[in-house]
Amino acid sequence: MFALFILALIPLRSAYAVFDDDEACLLCHKYPRMTRVTEEGAIRSYYVMPEVYANTVHRNVPCRDCHTYIKELPHKPVKEGVRCDTECHSIKNPATGKPFSHEVIYNAYRDSVHGRDKNVEGIESDKPYCVTCHTNPIYDPNEAGPPEHVIGRCVLCHENEKFVVQWYKHTSRRIREVKRSPAEIVQLCASCHDDKKLVKRHMDQAEKEGRELGRKFPIAVKSYNESFHGKLTNYGYQDAANCLDCHAESDNYYKSVHEIRPSRDPLSPVHLNNKVETCRQCHRLADTNYAQLDPHPTALPGDGEFRHMAEFIYHIISVITIIGLVGLSMIETYGRRRDGVAFRLKQGTSWRRKSKRGRDRVI
Ligand code: HEC
Ligand code: HEC
Ligand code: HEC
Ligand code: HEC
Ligand code: HEC
Ligand code: HEC
Ligand code: HEC
Repeated sequence: MFALFILALIPLRSAYAVFDDDEACLLCHKYPRMTRVTEEGAIRSYYVMPEVYANTVHRNVPCRDCHTYIKELPHKPVKEGVRCDTECHSIKNPATGKPFSHEVIYNAYRDSVHGRDKNVEGIESDKPYCVTCHTNPIYDPNEAGPPEHVIGRCVLCHENEKFVVQWYKHTSRRIREVKRSPAEIVQLCASCHDDKKLVKRHMDQAEKEGRELGRKFPIAVKSYNESFHGKLTNYGYQDAANCLDCHAESDNYYKSVHEIRPSRDPLSPVHLNNKVETCRQCHRLADTNYAQLDPHPTALPGDGEFRHMAEFIYHIISVITIIGLVGLSMIETYGRRRDGVAFRLKQGTSWRRKSKRGRDRVI
């Protein structure tokens, strides 16, 4: 039994195989107690869990390809941060043969509204850096690998099952377009664009610099949540437009999410000239009139008293209507009970008996 138990553990262990720690960083960093109390009094952990790290997307990248500033061991206290446009020394891009880097994405990001340097202070640091949106995700060990007949075919030439499984998963999750759910995207953008203090800071700063910001900048998330798309998405519907369906291009989605532009930029998918195309992705018959419908529909103070009053009056009317409807049926039910008409589901509650008060309906 014990032997069987050990045997059963073997595949599990190899799934969590530890990566090659050629640079011996884990000599120190594998200890859970490697923590420090910062000047602000927070506990900071320098613990890297080898068996977790070995299953992340960056597991094949040696530590110092990212932490380039560490030049000797034991190393000095670290002041710099990891930039995401550094070139890997150890990993080549098989397509070009050149050292791999995220340069293409980085350049797109740098030109976007969110572009900033790694180490910035003050108001610039409100903008998201790569690590604000991306952690170092763990591959799901339960993710389906290739079916047997595919493995059989690839192994015929490549002679190594591990290689085949790794490349199959690498490609198939891109072909299947594994990505964030609409709710996750809204949550991500809302983490900043729904932060009133952050929004205020940027409004003030823009005014000081005489810089323009989008009309809907102060209420982007609030108004989205009030829109039809927002309500559907918040109820878990997957096909209504989320922030990136409109603010990024669908043709080149994975690059475009990194080059978000303000609506006043003619290249933005929500620029006046491009809006129809953007709506047409889903509303196939949309025309210029349809595209005029506001995806951020909350009235702004500058939208005029008329719109504000119209919304207010509709609100009052709908409340009165509902109270009236419910009230009327309650009074009706009360009256019928006084007449001795019992509520019966089977054959309805019409005036089938004689009214106790002599109020029989005359037809
Ligand atoms: C001899 C032990 C030792 C080895 C080996 C070691 N480190 Fe460290 N590392 C430390 C200690 C101690 C700290 C905490 C320093 C401090 O108090 O700021 C640290 C902190 C760090 C930090 C965080 C610093 C910060 O303040 O953000 C990084 C990043 C880091 N090490 C990376 C590495 C990398 C990459 C390697 C391998 C090339 C490595 N370390 C090897 C001992 C070690
Ligand atoms: C793909 C790039 C990448 C690789 C590979 C990588 N790291 Fe990091 N590491 C980062 C980033 C990004 C941070 C966050 C700090 C920052 O932004 O500078 C970080 C933070 C750290 C920290 C500090 C945590 C803190 O609170 O400051 C330690 C310690 C660390 N890494 C150790 C390692 C070790 C050891 C390895 C190798 C096993 C490794 N890293 C591999 C990108 C990487
Ligand atoms: C505002 C948030 C945000 C920022 C900042 C950001 N990304 Fe992304 N990134 C995304 C989203 C959203 C996707 C689409 C995939 C998904 O939904 O996870 C994505 C996709 C990617 C992909 C494609 C992954 C794949 O499997 O095809 C890479 C690589 C990537 N980002 C790298 C970066 C790098 C490097 C930076 C910094 C220059 C960066 N990202 C900055 C949100 C962001
Ligand atoms: C008929 C033999 C054959 C079959 C079957 C085959 N390959 Fe290949 N594969 C090759 C050859 C030869 C190369 C290298 C030459 C080239 O780049 O064209 C290669 C290259 C690759 C590479 C690029 C590796 C690199 O680092 O450059 C990957 C990834 C790959 N194959 C994956 C697969 C997968 C996954 C399957 C099964 C779905 C598969 N191959 C089936 C012969 C084959
Ligand atoms: C880490 C915080 C953060 C996250 C996350 C974030 N943003 Fe931003 N966003 C900002 C900041 C800061 C600005 C710049 C305001 C300025 O120019 O002063 C900005 C600007 C913008 C602008 C341009 C505003 C204008 O009028 O110039 C748009 C559009 C935008 N973001 C959309 C998005 C979308 C869509 C997402 C989700 C994918 C997102 N943002 C996620 C912080 C964030
Ligand atoms: C159906 C398409 C659509 C969706 C979904 C959408 N937006 Fe917008 N967004 C627009 C349009 C169009 C504008 C320009 C509105 C105007 O100025 O009249 C805009 C404007 C903005 C602005 C003001 C800056 C600018 O570029 O004018 C921000 C910030 C913003 N949106 C963020 C978001 C966030 C965050 C989400 C998700 C919570 C989101 N949007 C969802 C279409 C959309
Ligand atoms: C990612 C797909 C997608 C995009 C892009 C999109 N919508 Fe929608 N929209 C939906 C879905 C799904 C519904 C739900 C009801 C339906 O099927 O008509 C909806 C409903 C609506 C509604 C309420 C129902 C109706 O038809 O009156 C309006 C208004 C609307 N969208 C306007 C727009 C506008 C304007 C744009 C472009 C700026 C746009 N949408 C872009 C998916 C999308």
